[in-house]
Amino acid sequence: MIDLIHVTKHFGDAVAVDDISLSVARGELCVLVGTSGCGKSTTLRMINRLIEHSEGEIHIDGQQIREFREESLRRRMGYAIQSTGLFPHWTVARNIGLVPRLLKWPAARIQARVEELMALLGLDLEEFADKYPHQLSGGQAQRVGVARALAADPDILLMDEPFGALDPLTREGLQEELRELQGRLEKTIVFVTHDMDEALRLADHLVVMHQGRIKQQGRPLELLREPADAFVESLLGGEGRGLKEAALLPVSQRMLPLGPRLLARERIGQQASLREALSLMLWRHAERLTVVDDDDLPVGELSLRRLVGVRSDD
Ligand SMILES: Nc1ncnc2c1ncn2[C@@H]1O[C@H](COP(=O)(O)OP(=O)(O)OP(=O)(O)O)[C@@H](O)[C@H]1O
Ligand SMILES: [Mg+2]
Repeated sequence: MIDLIHVTKHFGDAVAVDDISLSVARGELCVLVGTSGCGKSTTLRMINRLIEHSEGEIHIDGQQIREFREESLRRRMGYAIQSTGLFPHWTVARNIGLVPRLLKWPAARIQARVEELMALLGLDLEEFADKYPHQLSGGQAQRVGVARALAADPDILLMDEPFGALDPLTREGLQEELRELQGRLEKTIVFVTHDMDEALRLADHLVVMHQGRIKQQGRPLELLREPADAFVESLLGGEGRGLKEAALLPVSQRMLPLGPRLLARERIGQQASLREALSLMLWRHAERLTVVDDDDLPVGELSLRRLVGVRSDD
């Protein structure tokens, strides 16, 4: 869906993005993560041509972005940013309807779309449609920003630290909603963050950048298991990596078949993460858990030793 092929961006003599190649498949959530100034935002803005790349090629659906008309890029790509970029003197409804209005949709269709998006993002129409951005909480404003990015039903969403300004709880809530939305709407998303926990929670495809270059990319678990170098490893959390990995693996990956022993009293669903399993064990002082399927039928067991000591691919 999105291909960057040996893409470089110079600002004068400075190289902001240095020969990066990257592919994002349709329906995939790709996260760019890295230290401040490493070129994440520049990369994102080259995809929607807010910034022109200097060298290399960028393709959308196999077609060079230079060949797209501005209007079709705007229609196909939603863009959400940390500061939300909402217009302060426009109501929530008007802000959300911005791109459809630029695309000259009829008023009734814009109205219907705004209502649909507000419902989708849990913004009560009565309460919020006529409010102004300064009357919203940070989380509400970011929802409006995301709704606006979705307004013209783009197949690609570009998100630059869209949840950056939020407290951890609201942030986790929105991350979950985003994953859920993505599953439902099948958007292709490129998401920028410098928060590794957020990156690991969201990414299908994780790209670690440093000083304009890609240090490593792949599935989050691949990076956690085999960081390419000390930089990637430290960014991934160094020694604490095991726990992050545990948060991503489902219980079913490490459980053993049911043995002849009595079933352990505490139960956990096979889709739960190993981190959840660990907290249940610690909370209940249980050394073993019975793993159950969606119908609550026992399918295996998980021991503390196996959880902490044995790798899933052993
Ligand atoms: N318009 C510009 N003109 C000159 N230099 C720029 C411009 N935009 C970005 N840069 C430089 O390019 C480099 C990459 O910037 P970019 O904004 O992509 O970083 P980033 O990874 O998004 O950082 P952050 O996490 O702080 O947002 C930086 O060194 C920055 O100073
Ligand atoms: Mg940035």
